[in-house]
Amino acid sequence: MTTDLQPVVYSPYAYEIHEDPYPVYARLRAEAPVYRNEELDFWALSRHEDVLAAFRNLDGFSNAQGVSLEPSAFGPEAHKFMSFLALDPPRHTRMRSLVGKGFTPSKVAAMEEHIRAIALEHLEPALERGSFDFIADFAGKLPMDVISELVGVPRVDRAEIRRLADVVVHREDGVLDVPPAGMEAAMALVGYYQGMVDERRASRRDDLTSALLDAEIDGDKLTDDEIIAFLFLMVVAGNETTTKLLGNAWYWGWRHPGERTKPFTDGDRVVSWIEETLRYDTSSQMLLRVTRAPIELHGTTIPEGERVLLLVGSANRDESVFPDADRYDLDRDTSRLVSFGSGRHFCMGAPLARLEARVALGELVRRVDTYDVEPSGIERVHSINVRGLAALPTTVTLR
Ligand code: HEM
Repeated sequence: MTTDLQPVVYSPYAYEIHEDPYPVYARLRAEAPVYRNEELDFWALSRHEDVLAAFRNLDGFSNAQGVSLEPSAFGPEAHKFMSFLALDPPRHTRMRSLVGKGFTPSKVAAMEEHIRAIALEHLEPALERGSFDFIADFAGKLPMDVISELVGVPRVDRAEIRRLADVVVHREDGVLDVPPAGMEAAMALVGYYQGMVDERRASRRDDLTSALLDAEIDGDKLTDDEIIAFLFLMVVAGNETTTKLLGNAWYWGWRHPGERTKPFTDGDRVVSWIEETLRYDTSSQMLLRVTRAPIELHGTTIPEGERVLLLVGSANRDESVFPDADRYDLDRDTSRLVSFGSGRHFCMGAPLARLEARVALGELVRRVDTYDVEPSGIERVHSINVRGLAALPTTVTLR
């Protein structure tokens, strides 16, 4: 328990929170499990059991205004860019089922060798140089190129698509909404995907866009706009999050040499490296909901129509579920992490994100003997919901 006399204050916009949110999360869990921020007009849930219950309570909590506090991403239009992530049942159920017909586990599993080829394309020149930026030269490139490969963007266009996707998610320090350049890049991406859908309609290929065009349940099919919104959702939901997962694993491994030794001496331990990083410092720190009915919790009532942040990053550090939760420990049981959400909106890309991380970090441990990071060059991303690094200068010694 804390001895602080001031009531705990939490704002996802605060730079101190971007630097290290975990002490504030610990106070929220202990002192204000149903936290209210009047100024920014939101509530926040921070305990594991409450976050998990809210993810699963579709009658109590709605996704229909989107899942982000960012002003331009919040509201009834959110589904135009965020597809079924920003829909409730029955519209969510219909869209997710149709997309599930195309985006199948076997399609993801079949990506492994493609992912390896893309990873090595970026990794080999970096490793040859010996010094490189782990984010700019590797982790920032792989996830978007994998999405492009999956949906069918030809190789020649991938660098430009990656550039546009970067502009969509990029935020200058202090800018906490989507800037005009981000909006323009989003429109350009949508235009590109529209062209791709038109081409595939005329002639199918072996890619996800073609599979989505053919997806059908009882005669019901996806419209062009729905396919494009889903392709765009993958950029928003699957790109930056996976980049940050890779960077966070590399960073926390560097900070904990004793733990790092485990995957570097036994390649099978790469999976524990990924899972513990997902738990300890997840890239997607919070998801927004809007209450559909009054919610009574720990003696407080959240009225209907209120914005509630589900603090995933805090739930993953809840001592009642993860003993000694602030310790980065590759030997712990991580099975109850909530980094991919839970229930009906559970991350559809979780198997792909895990596969990418296993291939990428697996190739690194196979080639690299030791590595070091230059602390003065580390830069953190300032974002209200994504946690991770923008720069991570690395030097490697190869095996
Ligand atoms: C480490 C990487 C990732 C993390 C931490 C992550 C996290 C999440 C979380 C927490 C949700 C639930 C959102 C909510 O309940 O409001 C979600 C949903 C989603 N994610 Fe991921 N994600 C990752 C990678 C990916 C990838 C690689 C893809 C696909 C290419 C993807 C596609 C999706 C989709 C389509 C949804 C919406 C599911 C629905 O609303 O039914 N994600 N993700």
